[in-house]
Amino acid sequence: MRIQSAITSLLALGACMGSPEVGTGMGSGSSPSGATQTNPVSDLVCARKMALDLTHDSIAAEDIAKVERGELSLDKLADQYLASPQFEAVSFDWMRSEFPPTALTNEMTDIEEPARIMHHVLMQDRDWREILTATYTVDAMGAEVPIADRPAAGIISTKYSLQSTVGSYRRNWAGRFERQFAGITLVAVTLPPGDMSDVSPDGLASNPNCAGCHVHPTYGIDPLAKFAECYDDDGARKAGCVDPEASFLLQTGNGLADLGRIAAHTNEFKSQSVNFFFKRLFGRDLAKQEGAFYTEAAKSFTASGFKARTLIKFLVTSEGYCAR
Ligand code: HEC
Repeated sequence: MRIQSAITSLLALGACMGSPEVGTGMGSGSSPSGATQTNPVSDLVCARKMALDLTHDSIAAEDIAKVERGELSLDKLADQYLASPQFEAVSFDWMRSEFPPTALTNEMTDIEEPARIMHHVLMQDRDWREILTATYTVDAMGAEVPIADRPAAGIISTKYSLQSTVGSYRRNWAGRFERQFAGITLVAVTLPPGDMSDVSPDGLASNPNCAGCHVHPTYGIDPLAKFAECYDDDGARKAGCVDPEASFLLQTGNGLADLGRIAAHTNEFKSQSVNFFFKRLFGRDLAKQEGAFYTEAAKSFTASGFKARTLIKFLVTSEGYCAR
């Protein structure tokens, strides 16, 4: 019961965060840096934080002087840091930490592949949704390599993703996908030792204690797991396998490329993306009462064509960033 209510409130938050974005102008009146622009003292506080977060280094002495004299705006400073080699390294670490090896990860697996794809999308200023839809991968030298011999879907078709969380019928893989890319956290039930429940998909669907999570029409684990049914536990595509129909967030498709497209266009993914960067910069998750701030951040992200740099800049030049 407790678990069910947790799910409900999470979805309610998602729904509130995903409220339709009305209007297009990124009005200067709502610019989060606007209010601080006139106060060099508080600008300096923000500038110091920005330097530490984006470059892991302190602000240069000449930049302090310029900020103090009002000659260097936070906006310009953010651009400067976002273009720096230090930021390139810092942001790669943000991404690498998202994909740790698990007990199942084969030691031959290239565990940095998902982080490289994400980092490439950020560095090349591409549409962030490509992390789930790219038909290419990124090699160790940082070059884009097209994938033509199998369905490709950015991070989710990497060997790391397909191998590092599997479980029976790929349910653990599906559970991780939901948490990571949709922010939906279902806490799996621990079965008592010797439990004789039929754990096949049909068995769970007909067991009222299990169906709520396993075959739920919106976030059901089993219909989501079916997107990856054509892959074995080692993450290789099964020869001759035809992707069965699968569903997630009320949309159906076949195979990983469809899942990537479906997930990338949801409000859940958008709010996870905003939260991903928010968390790196604010050191915590977005809170429920920050719905208005979320809406502004998501609006600027969307208006930019889902450019992560724009989102990061929005976050580090917002008033809340300095006050945190
Ligand atoms: C509150 C939601 C929820 C309920 C209720 C639930 N499960 Fe699950 N179950 C999950 C999630 C989520 C996963 C994926 C694991 C993860 O994400 O950690 C999972 C995974 C599983 C797995 C795969 C584990 C593995 O390691 O291969 C089995 C088997 C399973 N559940 C059986 C059951 C059975 C039997 C019931 C009913 C008695 C049940 N579940 C009820 C959420 C639920």
